[in-house]
Amino acid sequence: MKKICFVVAMEGEAKPLIRHFGLRHIGGRFGQLPSQAYEAFYAGKEITLITNGVDSETGLDYIGCEAAVLSAHLAISSFPPDLIINAGTAGGFASKGAQIGDVYLSDRYVVFHDRRVAIPGWDKMGQGYLPCADCRNIASRIRAKLGVCTSGSSLDITEEDLEQMKQTGGEVKDMEAAAIAWVASLYHIPLLCVKAITDLVDTGHPTPEQFNDNFLLATQRLDDACFRLIDEKLIDEL
Ligand code: ADE
Repeated sequence: MKKICFVVAMEGEAKPLIRHFGLRHIGGRFGQLPSQAYEAFYAGKEITLITNGVDSETGLDYIGCEAAVLSAHLAISSFPPDLIINAGTAGGFASKGAQIGDVYLSDRYVVFHDRRVAIPGWDKMGQGYLPCADCRNIASRIRAKLGVCTSGSSLDITEEDLEQMKQTGGEVKDMEAAAIAWVASLYHIPLLCVKAITDLVDTGHPTPEQFNDNFLLATQRLDDACFRLIDEKLIDEL
């Protein structure tokens, strides 16, 4: 595990990582495409980080599966890494024991929850069941929880999404992990997702408010967990 690539959707999630690892922006790397790349040598590793970039009209980070596929593909084809770490924030379920600020590592597989293709075979293909690294040992070392990461294109949740999560066991809800897992699986590159909980989707409190109120806390916990993965050489145990 010499070459590690962090794939991160939002600049706010990535900034502490950029600072901690002393990552330098590699300007203009991807021409007109919005993804932004950073790199450094740190603790004997070649660390790269890619963000989805910002929409020039609105100034907002590109979030979601399309931007995540683009960033993951650009990252892998530019700096073929030994490991991809998708770091980001996510929604959790109080009914499954999640609390705001909890850090989860991906467990078993990564799925989608908003692809409804009710034809045998295509239903499972839509859900993905994409591979992720076995990080049970690492999770206990950093006191992170383990959960099946599940991705879709919306911040809110519908009854149909919930039904799919019941089928797949998905419990860490984000908007990128499965898209990145798909690209990683095509290249046979191991993937680990680190997700910090900004909101609990089953408490009746509006998700956007929770997301805004808890973003800083969750991002600090997210980045602390990522620092430990590298600084304590935990990823070398994968
Ligand atoms: N990121 C943070 N919270 C989320 C949620 N509830 N759904 C999707 N992505 C998220």
